[in-house]
Amino acid sequence: MYEKSDTVEVCLEAKQISKIYPGTLALDKVDIKLYRGKVNVLIGENGAGKSTLMKIIAGVEQPTEGTILFHGNEVSFTNTREAAEAGIGIIHQELNLFPNLTVAQNIFMAREKTKYGKINEGEHNKQTKDVLQKLEQAIEPDKIVGELRVGQQQIIEIAKTMIQKELSILIMDEPTSSLSNKEVEVLFHLIEELKQQGVAIVYISHRMEEIMRIGDTVTILRDGKLVASERVSEIDLPWIVEKMVGHSGKKIKKNEHKKLGKEILKVENLVLPREDGLALDDVSFSLFEGEILGIYGMLGAGRTEILECLMGRNKDVKGDFFVDGKYAKPKSVPDQISKGFAYIPEDRQKEGLIQSLSVAKNLTISSLKNYTWFFHLLKKQEENAVTETIKNFFIKVSNSDLPIYSLSGGNQQKVVIGKSILTSPKILLLDEPTRGIDISAKADVFEIVNKLADQGIAVILVSSELNEMINVADRVIVLSKGKVTGEFTGSGVNEQSLMRAATGGE
Ligand SMILES: Nc1ncnc2c1ncn2[C@@H]1O[C@H](COP(=O)(O)OP(=O)(O)OP(=O)(O)O)[C@@H](O)[C@H]1O
Ligand SMILES: [Mg+2]
Repeated sequence: MYEKSDTVEVCLEAKQISKIYPGTLALDKVDIKLYRGKVNVLIGENGAGKSTLMKIIAGVEQPTEGTILFHGNEVSFTNTREAAEAGIGIIHQELNLFPNLTVAQNIFMAREKTKYGKINEGEHNKQTKDVLQKLEQAIEPDKIVGELRVGQQQIIEIAKTMIQKELSILIMDEPTSSLSNKEVEVLFHLIEELKQQGVAIVYISHRMEEIMRIGDTVTILRDGKLVASERVSEIDLPWIVEKMVGHSGKKIKKNEHKKLGKEILKVENLVLPREDGLALDDVSFSLFEGEILGIYGMLGAGRTEILECLMGRNKDVKGDFFVDGKYAKPKSVPDQISKGFAYIPEDRQKEGLIQSLSVAKNLTISSLKNYTWFFHLLKKQEENAVTETIKNFFIKVSNSDLPIYSLSGGNQQKVVIGKSILTSPKILLLDEPTRGIDISAKADVFEIVNKLADQGIAVILVSSELNEMINVADRVIVLSKGKVTGEFTGSGVNEQSLMRAATGGE
């Protein structure tokens, strides 16, 4: 990739790395070089082996075969602590935080500072404050982590690696999946600083525009094999997509001439208080059978709150709710499920899956009543539902009896979506459904959503991706600071109109 004459320094070289899990060849003789002071991007479809390769470099997993040269010397780390001591930090794809502990306690977990034999909380709080300031976050060190929103929790994960001394490699496995645009900018600024200090950054992401913007080199994996390594300046987006999926990619297609059914949901004058004012301020809208209604807005505009109110998770909401023309104020989550609502939450790791169960059980746990007859479980029906869903969503798993944690991050997301669709809902609420999902699977997810809408299911889609709003939604309502600031259909759904309404018309 780089010529001998280029003055770049290889900081780590992994040679012929293979990793076998029971029944899965996750990596097949992969070579990779990481360059000092560069952003080394790693991409590939869900299940391609990205996280596994990085876990091996960071000492979380051991390779079945292969060698790793770090600054020219062969190393084999048996755990993350050894890798951390050598200067390798990793920000995992999944959040690894203790929700009931404070921010400072999480940041100093397993590397507590002591003074006279006691944990030096003062020092912890001070350093936490410093690092959060650097990340431009006004979060108090004694705040309980579980009370932070997902994006802020992701920032705490980033802060954890920042206090590590003398980093020479920092691995970021999808660090921006829950971050707002502003938070992404702060992170990119930080990455720039780390590059200056000579840190080799490994950056994993499914957001192509990020890769083109901050990447120096790109390595592409497909099905556990190395497909290509190139300098980002030498290539373009179509080239990446072609290498990644083996064809030029699928486009999301909108059904332009569809007929909507009757009004299935109507909400009027929703008001929801929060600490510093109103999360929802007099919100009213309707939803029709077969419609895909987009809700767009900046972070904190009230998008997720609307879905939570509809799902019966927020008891403090005032206003009127009508389902099928009948007054139906949400009482509880089970009550809403019985009325035909299904919800795919933003924080899927925590809320969507039971880690101790198999892929199959996770898929069918919410829809068991569909496979029972007078209290008997109809094994065949259940199996069919599982097989169908795995096929429809291209879930990469060799056997559905495997535990859910053995799936790659993106494939776990697909299970959460498949699971809620199996409940045969009438109203489907999707909160950022394509987060962490690779580009070809994104098109698959929306193809399924379109199909469901064609069958008459009403869908509400919350997404911060403008192109998803434009390419998928039939109608979009825009929120700003809890108020509806715009409603668009047809050609009115475009980047300019949505952005203008989202920023409150400024
Ligand atoms: N603990 C495990 N046990 C069994 N199989 C596993 C385990 N961890 C990963 N795998 C398998 O290894 C393969 C590679 O997974 P990996 O998590 O590295 O993918 P990825 O490229 O990070 O995908 P994503 O974009 O979805 O995060 C997948 O087929 C996955 O199911
Ligand atoms: Mg991964």
